[in-house]
Amino acid sequence: MKGIILSGFRPTGKVHIGNLKGALENWVKLQDEYACYFEIADWHLLTTSYDDVASIQENIFQMVVDWLAAGIDPKRSIIFLQSSVKEHAELYLLFSMITPLSWLYRNPTLKEQIRDLEMTSDNNYGLLGYPVLQAADILCYKATAVPVGEDQLPHLELTREIARRFNNLYEEIFPEPKSLITQFPRVLGIDGKKMSKSLNNAIYIADSEEEIRRKVKLSITDTAKIRKNDPGHPDICNIFSYHKIFNREQTDEIKDSCQKGELGCVECKNRCADKIIEYLKPLQEKRKNFEKDPDVIYDIVEDGNKKARIIAQKTLDEVNESMNLKINRRFYDKTSL
Ligand code: TRP
Repeated sequence: MKGIILSGFRPTGKVHIGNLKGALENWVKLQDEYACYFEIADWHLLTTSYDDVASIQENIFQMVVDWLAAGIDPKRSIIFLQSSVKEHAELYLLFSMITPLSWLYRNPTLKEQIRDLEMTSDNNYGLLGYPVLQAADILCYKATAVPVGEDQLPHLELTREIARRFNNLYEEIFPEPKSLITQFPRVLGIDGKKMSKSLNNAIYIADSEEEIRRKVKLSITDTAKIRKNDPGHPDICNIFSYHKIFNREQTDEIKDSCQKGELGCVECKNRCADKIIEYLKPLQEKRKNFEKDPDVIYDIVEDGNKKARIIAQKTLDEVNESMNLKINRRFYDKTSL
């Protein structure tokens, strides 16, 4: 039997090249070997952006367009919207009963997020439960593997702990899903920090040629290389990190000539922008076609919702039965004897 994959993004809008290389391209490959579920995690988005819902529809649309442009194939994989499959909420509630608070408080991803977003002590209840909801996402489909970035590993560990606890308390229903880590260097933002939408340092799949050139030109490189002929340090340069990803054939030569002070940053950046533009071109063409036909996107998600619901309902039937919930006909049959 094929393994089952579930992964997802929060719908924050257009996808950047960090997500493309770090996750999306990996998902595309996994479609050959696994039954894949790709989730638009809109409830997870609300854990931090509950006060900003105006752009959710637009952001879902743009994100799904990027998924499809990158090669997610709705004929083989199920693309669905989390809030359209209510079973996630039901399983989340049941899991919340068996999840000790200490497991949630020690979660490093949560701690990091609270620090990054400068959140305060009156954080919302939903944010604490973020990984419990994620466990429900994964286990609704009995996923056996979850492709994620390193930052998600603590969440996945919690998913396994919840599955184990459930299986011990009630019945062996859930697999303990393993993580599939993408073997890809972290893509840096144009400021040299981790590429992230919220840090405003990202290059997007949908960026125009001018936009990409402008961003690459603005990039901070090796600050010790001031003049064209100063020797540079490619290993700490984010432009070099892009060359490694989008311009593999020339990386050795670029490294060498940068270190020798032969290659200036202006030329190096131009060559880098050319390669990124060339790489994204076919994706952008596919993107344009989808944008012309938004109802295709709607149908894909609605169709995915239906398929996802069938599987999730089956799982929840088993869960409810094993926890002895829902009024049970058999009990009444017995007592009437
Ligand atoms: N937490 C993930 C992220 O921020 C999104 C997500 C939600 C997810 N549910 C998931 C990822 C289930 C993997 C599996 O990127």
